[in-house]
Amino acid sequence: MHTQVGILGAGPAGLTLAMLLRGEGIDCVVLETRDRAYVEKRVRAGLLEQNTVDLLRELGVGERLDREGLEHNGIYLRHGGTNHYIDMAALTGRHITIYGQQEVVKDLTNALLSKGVPIHFEVGDVTLHDLESALPRIAYEHEGPNELTCDAIAGCDGFHGVSRPTIAEHLTEHEYVYAFGWLGILAEAQPATDELIYAWHADGFALYTMRSQTISRLYLQVPADEDIENWPDERIWAALRTRLGNVNEGRIVDKGITPMRSFVAEPMQYGRLFLAGDSAHIVPPTGAKGLNLAVNDVRLLAPALTELIRKGETGRADGYTTAALGRVWRAQDFSNYMTQMLHDLGGGPFQERLQLARLEYIARSEAAAHSLAENYVGLPAEPEF
Ligand code: FAD
Ligand code: PHB
Repeated sequence: MHTQVGILGAGPAGLTLAMLLRGEGIDCVVLETRDRAYVEKRVRAGLLEQNTVDLLRELGVGERLDREGLEHNGIYLRHGGTNHYIDMAALTGRHITIYGQQEVVKDLTNALLSKGVPIHFEVGDVTLHDLESALPRIAYEHEGPNELTCDAIAGCDGFHGVSRPTIAEHLTEHEYVYAFGWLGILAEAQPATDELIYAWHADGFALYTMRSQTISRLYLQVPADEDIENWPDERIWAALRTRLGNVNEGRIVDKGITPMRSFVAEPMQYGRLFLAGDSAHIVPPTGAKGLNLAVNDVRLLAPALTELIRKGETGRADGYTTAALGRVWRAQDFSNYMTQMLHDLGGGPFQERLQLARLEYIARSEAAAHSLAENYVGLPAEPEF
């Protein structure tokens, strides 16, 4: 079988790319190792930058997002038992929207399938071949052995996929692994806050976020190698109350620990294989940038692939890495800054005082608050290159 672009991964990067390419009249096939129910239920990100919302609307998948998404104007930074509000809309004129990643994935999947774009779930044994040729191949199992020849392959298969390892010898990898992770819960409880609370506490960081008026999402800093079995529900609620103050409790319906790392692989291309999203870079979630970066990558990749396929011109495709990495490194810096400012880094009282001095500065200085706000809501999208 042949398609113009073979896309690995039905996460935000792969599905958004498929929508963008379809809009350009380019054929693609999406291959995903997991089943559809799993991908649509996996609880992950929730915060969309304005750029991301704008793009989803342009793609025609903004209807439920506009109805059910929660538009927020800012965030609270909490320390010393007090919440300090950063009014991001007033500072930047831009908004953020709370809408679960799995809802974005559902909307994109429905739109693609209704337009006849093939998404094959539960594929196995994916291997990539002839990447240096003009006709790269994907071999995989799906009701028996299959092969897809393509004009280009998009590796949107996340951090644990096969794309990046296949070309590892051609890449430079930059990595920093943190000594802590986040324990995240989803609870059937009305949020006790109108907007997100990022809390500094001597016991460690906590975040109060939400999915709807009846579902709360909360996170706690825990050691990277922590066993979830050590956290029965009552211990989780007690720690959240200590770190966040007023918390509404309810039945916990999802619970898990995510390790934290900063990672960038460059270049984001080898031959006719292009990496996008988590397959190429990971940020710690404190800056809420991962999904937004994934969507920005494919916004840049789609026209580059279109030009490559339509005109056989490689100029734009060759410029993809440079175009995408500018925003990736800005997000790396911001995510690291938020992480270092808010987590217990194990550095003792001196480090604590520095963190509190930073938080005080943001609470008192409009310039400091503005800098944080413009990064958090996302700098305006770079023009296509
Ligand atoms: P993924 O979503 O990982 O999708 C990759 C897909 O590829 C998966 O479905 C996988 O099953 C599939 N796959 C794997 N291997 C193969 C293969 N060999 N062949 C085919 N398919 C394969 N980001 C934000 O912007 N805002 C937030 O608020 C935020 N909060 C977060 C909170 C947590 C707790 C976590 C863990 C992450 C958070 N993120 C956030 C990050 C965000 O979830 C990711 O950056 C985002 O999922 C990246 O999308 P992606 O499409 O690149 O990768
Ligand atoms: C979320 O809503 O899950 C969320 C929000 C902000 C973050 C991370 C996660 O920084």
